[in-house]
Amino acid sequence: MTDSAWVLRSLLFVPGHRRDMIAKAAAAGADAIILDLEDGVAPAEKAAARRTVAAALDGPLPEHLVVFVRVNSTGSGLLDADLREAAGARMNGVCLPKCDTPADVQAVAARLLTVEDRLGRPRGRLRILALVETARGVLQAPAIARESPRVWGVVFGAEDFTADAGLPRTREGGELAAARTEVGLAAHAAGVEAIDGIFADFRDEPGLVADTAAARRLGYTGKTVIHPAQIAPVHRVLAPAEDEIAKARRIVDAFAQAEAAGSGIVVVDGAMVDRPVAVRAQRVLARAGGAGA
Ligand code: COA
Ligand code: MG
Repeated sequence: MTDSAWVLRSLLFVPGHRRDMIAKAAAAGADAIILDLEDGVAPAEKAAARRTVAAALDGPLPEHLVVFVRVNSTGSGLLDADLREAAGARMNGVCLPKCDTPADVQAVAARLLTVEDRLGRPRGRLRILALVETARGVLQAPAIARESPRVWGVVFGAEDFTADAGLPRTREGGELAAARTEVGLAAHAAGVEAIDGIFADFRDEPGLVADTAAARRLGYTGKTVIHPAQIAPVHRVLAPAEDEIAKARRIVDAFAQAEAAGSGIVVVDGAMVDRPVAVRAQRVLARAGGAGA
């Protein structure tokens, strides 16, 4: 599966030092896993986590599973060792935390050339998932998202963002609205995916569903999760509903017929359909076809 065909609704974080959890994560049904070397791993565990992640990346992982490694930030002093010791054959890209400026993207993009050479992989294929999770990062999100063709998506990290910006963190997430909107727009303007941050209370399924629906309304197509129980609800919310798919199909068909007959406008279910409506419907069908493929 090439990276342009990825439809990643769920991206499951798993602590990099937990071999047992990595095996469970790989089998949990998420579209992607993110092997964590950063906030989920204590300083004393970093070296062991790199070894465990490297072994997992050279071992058997489901073929369809997309695998990212969350390295430590460019300012951490840990990034070079992360890439040198943890990168492995099965890695599709890195998740870059505390991504504050386009220079952070450049720093990682340049290092990925070395990783690709060492792994004997074609240059330019390892992707970057830029984790925007500070006030600075949010304001720079448009430039971050378009900085490199390696950037596959931008993740809005609500937990670190609220800590950094001095905001409360509520279940309803009203405090996130402005930044989440901005990061989602930045991703779409750059033509990359908008991925939502985690919902920490993993026993609160209604809360997760509401949070995911709020992200979807802002154009987010995927969500990071921390627990296997969060995968199915996220897939349900982010997948187009049956009636939505059926309607999209009616719109696309009717618009194609109208265009063939020389018209740019047609009425479907009592409402006007012109090009933007048809484009939206095509995107719904593309997601419906790609999900779980
Ligand atoms: N990946 C793989 N397996 C996971 C998992 C994950 N992210 N989260 C939980 N599991 C497994 C548990 O190991 C457990 O397996 P078992 O039944 O074989 O023992 C099962 O799912 C049920 O877990 P549960 O007992 O409900 O939760 P917990 O108390 O063990 O773990 C967390 C809760 C939050 C500590 C755990 O989900 C976790 O570490 N998540 C990732 C956190 C992270 O990466 N944070 C940094 C990024 S934001
Ligand atoms: Mg963090």
